[in-house]
Amino acid sequence: MEVGAAAGAALVLPRGGSSAEAAGGVPLFAVPLAIPPVLEPVRSEGGRDYYEITMRAARASILPGKSTPIWGYNGRFPGPTIKARAGREVVVRQINRLRIPTTIHLHGAHVRPRSDGYPLDTIAPGDHKDYFYPNDQLGATLWYHDHTHHHTSRNVYKGLAGFYLIYDDAEDELDLPKGRYDIPLALQDRSFKRDGSFDFKDNVDGVRGDTFLVNGRPTPYLKVANRKYRFRILNGSNTRDYTLALDSGMPLTQIASDGGLLSAPYTTQSIPLWPAERVEIVVDFSAYPVGSSVVLIDKGGDLPTQGRPIMRFDIDREEADPSSLPPILRPVERMAAGPSTREFRLTFDPHSGLWLINGRPFNRNRFIAKPRRGETEIWEFNNASRLTHPIHIHLVQFQILDRNDRPPLPGEAGWKDTVPVHTGDRVRVAMRFRQYTGAYVFHCHNLAHECHSMMAQMKVLP
Ligand code: C2O
Ligand code: CU
Ligand code: CU
Repeated sequence: MEVGAAAGAALVLPRGGSSAEAAGGVPLFAVPLAIPPVLEPVRSEGGRDYYEITMRAARASILPGKSTPIWGYNGRFPGPTIKARAGREVVVRQINRLRIPTTIHLHGAHVRPRSDGYPLDTIAPGDHKDYFYPNDQLGATLWYHDHTHHHTSRNVYKGLAGFYLIYDDAEDELDLPKGRYDIPLALQDRSFKRDGSFDFKDNVDGVRGDTFLVNGRPTPYLKVANRKYRFRILNGSNTRDYTLALDSGMPLTQIASDGGLLSAPYTTQSIPLWPAERVEIVVDFSAYPVGSSVVLIDKGGDLPTQGRPIMRFDIDREEADPSSLPPILRPVERMAAGPSTREFRLTFDPHSGLWLINGRPFNRNRFIAKPRRGETEIWEFNNASRLTHPIHIHLVQFQILDRNDRPPLPGEAGWKDTVPVHTGDRVRVAMRFRQYTGAYVFHCHNLAHECHSMMAQMKVLP
């Protein structure tokens, strides 16, 4: 693509509207992107890093001139970022200063049941709990969030979510953009009442907001140098999916999915991102002249032809770029398909108004899968309902074998913990139960569906 043509298109801003306002009435690109602070350990000993987080009510400034009551980890929305290293254990003490019971799940992590944030294993108000995260897994972009039974949707909407990044040595050697050129972006949509408070509505189909937030800021801008950046993008929205693209028409280069690096960079015009999924991209802003801008847009959903702005990058300076984008990232060993296949049917029951897995709502005493430790299983999800279900399985990183008998696109061919299963789809995934035994949930990550019962449990047997 011609650089001049791309930059020309990028300078026509905003797109898809006559006024510079997002749908929620908030001005576009009026505030800088915020990057959640990195949490420091309270101490390190015995090869472990200990952290403390207090969940509390606070106020956030999200909309101009207004303040929004939130529930936040350390009173922040989103919460502080924890940076961990593969193979080094992290202990997080979660102190509950909210007036509700809470439980915290580290999404994408391989942990024991007691540290998994089981929906009924809650911390009472005023109490605390230590969560143990061994980080015995590849470098990846994980996130922690509330998982309280029946209330996850509301609690996450109120602000209870944050990044947890695992780094590993092999990845460090690749010279991908690092440090301040490696930026997490949490995409969350919210609606607001006139007084600035969140307008959360419990709806069995889903909860969508009219304002796009990135790291808690409405459609922000970020000043960047004309070099490569790595962005770790989380869909932290309750229901909304995004189709990520650049308004310049330049392709996106995806380097990682939920569970870490792809085997090789994958260049594509747009990237679908369903709730709880993560993608990492490298954007090379040297393709744009200093002084120009490029907008990350959502091409899906409400405005299919135009795209709706998520955030803007303003290329405002020249800088040398010692980073590189290697043609090979990390071999992803293809999982050998094991013998046992389990099937899960995803449906809606109009009588109860509930979303179901194999015809049943969540029941804490029922285990609908009992895999054995050390075994590889194939799970097949069939969606016989009218909406997409981003299905998330705790404990494992899996591989997508096929969707309707077709192999996954390269962007979905790496490690995953969440897979969108569209209406009519038959999706097969393979996973290995490596180490821990006990009860874990799996569920739809449209949090409205999860709260309206599209959740089930497995028990991993020794
Ligand atoms: Cu991100 Cu069980 O959830
Ligand atoms: Cu999870
Ligand atoms: Cu669903």
